[in-house]
Amino acid sequence: MQNIIEIKNATLFQGSTKVFDRLNLEISSAYNTAILGPNGAGKTTLLKLINRDFYPVVAKHSFVKLFAKERWDVQELRSRLGIVSQSLQQNYSGDTIGLYVLLSGFYASDGIWQHQHFDEIKIQRAQQVAQQLGIEHLQDREFSSMSTGEQRRFLLGRALVHNPPVLVLDEPTSGLDISACFQYLETIRGLTSMGKKLILVTHHIHEIPPEVERVIFLKEGKIVEDDTKKNLLTSDKLSRLFDIPIKIIEENGYYQAVPDIL
Ligand SMILES: Nc1ncnc2c1ncn2[C@@H]1O[C@H](COP(=O)(O)OP(=O)(O)OP(=O)(O)O)[C@@H](O)[C@H]1O
Ligand SMILES: [Mg+2]
Repeated sequence: MQNIIEIKNATLFQGSTKVFDRLNLEISSAYNTAILGPNGAGKTTLLKLINRDFYPVVAKHSFVKLFAKERWDVQELRSRLGIVSQSLQQNYSGDTIGLYVLLSGFYASDGIWQHQHFDEIKIQRAQQVAQQLGIEHLQDREFSSMSTGEQRRFLLGRALVHNPPVLVLDEPTSGLDISACFQYLETIRGLTSMGKKLILVTHHIHEIPPEVERVIFLKEGKIVEDDTKKNLLTSDKLSRLFDIPIKIIEENGYYQAVPDIL
């Protein structure tokens, strides 16, 4: 199975903070993977490293390979990935109308620019995705006038419009109400059953769909555990990861954390 990500000895700074110190990580396309860790662990930074928003410090025997390649035309790389993140939602150009939010996925841009051209085939594809996600009635609405959940659906559509093999999601259900959260999870599950690989980056245990097989714990910029979901999503392991007594409840392949009160 091909590696989606292979990171070797990557050191990375955000401002003056050293987020990763010689990080090693491999994610193969054999499994759907969740990267779990507390606030500030480096999850979003890792995602930015994957998306080539950031580069590690240049060092001998250090590299970041994506789909087994170190050098990429960023545009070409992004066409292989469908990314949905909160920072994208915050930074997305608010006056873009729904249909164009979807179309912007063809350029992995956070709005629409004059030089971008959309032929009939692309427009039809965007409309098809809108229909699949049940957002076709919002196609003419400005992004800024949509609710959080509606925006999230459009960003998922934007990530899907170019049909990438891998979806990378950063806290995908944050800010969604229970119904929107469950619907979103069902959509993600449907996509994995169609063969899309999932890399989920989160601190919310409840948004890990049953299809996730491998879990990686990230804490203070370090991989502290890497195992099957069954072995890691336990009360004991999660209490250690989050430094607080946690009780884990499992139901139908979903997990929920509650305080472990004696
Ligand atoms: N622009 C910045 N300048 C300095 N430090 C930063 C900057 N952005 C992030 N950091 C630091 O980098 C570390 C990792 O941040 P990151 O956003 O990757 O964490 P995270 O795991 O995504 O957390 P959360 O669960 O809160 O989203 C944190 O210590 C954070 O304070
Ligand atoms: Mg984050």
